[in-house]
Amino acid sequence: MAESTFTPRVFSGIKPSGGLTLGNYLGAIKRWAEMQGKGIETIYCVVDLHAITVWQDPQDLHNGTREVTAGLIASGIDPATSILFNQSQVSAHAELAWIFNCVARVGWMNRMTQFKDKAGKNAEKVSLGLYAYPALMAADILVYHATHVPVGEDQKQHVELTRDIAAKFNHDYKVDFFPLTNPVIEGPATRVMNLRDGSKKMSKSGESDMERINMLDDADTIARKFKKARTDPEPLPDTLEGLAGRPEARNLVDIYAGLSDQTPEAVIADYAGAGWGRFKPALADLAVARLAPISDEMKRLMEDPGELDRILATGADKAEAIARPILEQTYDIVGLVRSR
Ligand code: AMP
Ligand code: TRP
Repeated sequence: MAESTFTPRVFSGIKPSGGLTLGNYLGAIKRWAEMQGKGIETIYCVVDLHAITVWQDPQDLHNGTREVTAGLIASGIDPATSILFNQSQVSAHAELAWIFNCVARVGWMNRMTQFKDKAGKNAEKVSLGLYAYPALMAADILVYHATHVPVGEDQKQHVELTRDIAAKFNHDYKVDFFPLTNPVIEGPATRVMNLRDGSKKMSKSGESDMERINMLDDADTIARKFKKARTDPEPLPDTLEGLAGRPEARNLVDIYAGLSDQTPEAVIADYAGAGWGRFKPALADLAVARLAPISDEMKRLMEDPGELDRILATGADKAEAIARPILEQTYDIVGLVRSR
């Protein structure tokens, strides 16, 4: 299938569970903001239906949806340029997910590493939604015929599954209807690691707050977390290769690169031979300089939940106008009777 027959369109999503982290910012949000205004339609979604695949307190979910919306806007996502909305307000996502549940194979789902990590030894007890999650994610993307999906490294396998679902649908129904979507995983910080354990991803839900930087952390907290971040005793090397086998050191260099819009090579060139006593305070200052204006703006926006809700409503109307016709064409292809 010629992918070029589809107009380029960007879609991505983020769960409103827990606060936003530096991993979300560097791996996703900052890059979403940079993709705007380049002549390609950008659609960004707060995926509340994904969040409830694990238990969410209703009030926390409600507040979290507004908080993430505020975080996206404060980070430069402009609701006048991009379509910004929450997933549950556009029911076409859930409807197309059902069709995809009938296209995707159980064997494909069994290979999803995120499910295996999240379910662990408890696989019999987790929700059916957590297992089916990648089919809903494929629906999120394909209900807009999105061609490009900017995400962190951890989502690569889900975007590849989205391609498999599109290809099987097109093949089974003998159509050229869904595009084969490309993951866009670029930049120095597509996998930001835990500050206390360089083998684990920085996540919203890790046990200790010291292992992550939250976008709402104040300057003192950010400085303290970087100061206490695990490292090795060696100073920074003079080439990137010198960081091999030093995951915690590599992570801090990558974070510095992501925050300063430089390559990791350029950071190493500036700090070759520096000890942590010099590098960590510089990193903390940089992080505060980048994050403080965003968290101030986020707090300001959160004071007016009514306005955030209006933005989500407007975005949902615009999203619906694209998604509904694509869903209806899908129903026609599948052979469902639509007589009203
Ligand atoms: P989530 O918070 O799981 O909904 O993730 C939203 C987006 O942030 C996805 O594109 C993830 O790949 C990205 N993301 C989450 N954590 C990290 C991380 N530690 N490093 C890089 N990207 C991340
Ligand atoms: N699964 C993604 C995550 O955990 C969130 C997500 C849901 C998403 N639907 C999406 C990302 C569609 C990109 C496109 O981070």
